[in-house]
This record gives sequence, structure tokens and C-alpha cells, in this order.
Amino acid sequence: MSTKRKLGVGVISLGWMGRLHARSYRALSERFPELGVEARLVAAADPIEEAQRAAVEDLGFARACADYRELLADPEVDIVSIASPNFLHEEIALAAVQAGKPFWIEKPMGTSAQQSENIARAAESAGLVTCVGFNYRHVPAIEYMRELIRSGKLGRITNARVWFIADYNSSPRSPLTWRASREKAGAGVVPDLMSHGADLAQYLIGRIAR
Ligand SMILES: NC(=O)c1ccc[n+]([C@@H]2O[C@H](COP(=O)([O-])OP(=O)(O)OC[C@H]3O[C@@H](n4cnc5c(N)ncnc54)[C@H](O)[C@@H]3O)[C@@H](O)[C@H]2O)c1
Repeated sequence: MSTKRKLGVGVISLGWMGRLHARSYRALSERFPELGVEARLVAAADPIEEAQRAAVEDLGFARACADYRELLADPEVDIVSIASPNFLHEEIALAAVQAGKPFWIEKPMGTSAQQSENIARAAESAGLVTCVGFNYRHVPAIEYMRELIRSGKLGRITNARVWFIADYNSSPRSPLTWRASREKAGAGVVPDLMSHGADLAQYLIGRIAR
């Protein structure tokens, strides 16, 4: 019998990122055996019925529901991924804080700096372990670059140029989604892609002053 600590996972929203989070949790035990942790896909929440079906039949969740509140109330859910469109992040994150569930929230945290601050403050005052989806930090080349910079081997860094190459939203024939709505996304490419660049520059070099 496995001696690994079992962690019950809840994934809120099963779009591009929610499915990727689910796959990653499934790979945890194999990829990082030294953690001694086994993630169990307990529940997924998405209003789309097809996503609920796929959650159980294709992705291996024990159950699926439409309302994220049901997932947050589930005592078997220990940790939560919030992989929803940006305009839902604040509401869902504050509910996760209320429910006392540690969470990984996708970037950008909110649709405004104020929303992001509200989320950060609420999680901090509840003493929850949280993480924002700036996943490029953990790419081995980035970790190595950070080591080189921190050790002083590259001298004083005076500027950073980040080039993010992506074309997923470039075709006028692609479907109109929440990403193209200022109200739902917060803004355009700046929070969607540039947030990764700003995060990496700060992670590698230090706070951007202005
Ligand atoms: N870290 C990264 O590199 C990265 C990459 C892509 C996206 N993201 C972020 O992930 C988040 C999700 O993006 P995506 O591309 O997966 O979106 P998506 O459009 O593919 O999926 C969104 C999902 O949310 C569901 N949803 C809608 N209303 C809901 C509700 N009330 N409750 C629960 N679920 C609901 C939809 O049914 C859909 O399945 C965004 O914040 C985005 O910025 C991060």
C-alpha cells in the first residue's frame, strides 16, 4: 500500500488551464516522488455539462459539479486550482479563503490591481499557502539564469528585455471569448501575456520601480 500522503484536489474551471492543472496533478507522484505526496482528483467545477462529463470520464475526477461553491464545501477537497476566466478570480478566491482551502490561482489574479490586492490580503490574513500561475519561473533555464544573476557572475544587470511569442489569439476567425472583453479579462495582452514578462523580470532581477 502506498505510504504517500494523499491530497484531495479540486479544480475550478476546466478550460485550457484547468485541464492542464488536472494532468499535472496526476503526474505529481511520478515526476516528484521525493515530495511523498499523491494527488487525488476529487472534484471539478464548471458550468458546462460537457466539461463535467469530461472531468469524470476523461480526466479521472471522482465527481464534477456546476457550482464552484459545492466544490469548496467538499471536505475531501484539500487544495484548489482556480483556473477560471479572470473576472471570476476575485469572487472565487475570496470564497476559497472563506472555506480555508489553500489555492493556486491563475494569472492575472484579478481584473485590476485592486482585485489582486484584495485576494492577496485575504489569503495572507487567513494564513493560507497560495501560488499564482507564473509557471515560467520554474523552467530550469530560468532557475539557472536566476542563480547566475544572484551569484553576481553576470555583473550589474541594467536592463531586461522579455519577448513572449504566442499567436493563439491572433486569428480574426478564432471564437470570441472572454479574453477579448475588457470587462471580463481586465485588459488585453498586458495582463494576459505581459504579466509573465513583468513577473520574470522581477523574479530574476528585482522590483520594477516605475
Ligand atoms: N499560466 C499560464 O501560462 C496561463 C496560460 C493560459 C491561461 N492562463 C490563465 O488561466 C485562466 C483560464 O484561462 P483558460 O485559457 O484556461 O480559459 P478557457 O476559456 O479555456 O476556460 C475557461 C473555463 O471556465 C469555465 N467557466 C466559465 N464560467 C465559470 C464559472 N462560473 N465557474 C466555473 N467555471 C466557469 C468555462 O466553462 C471554461 O471551461 C485565465 O486566468 C488565464 O489568464 C494562464
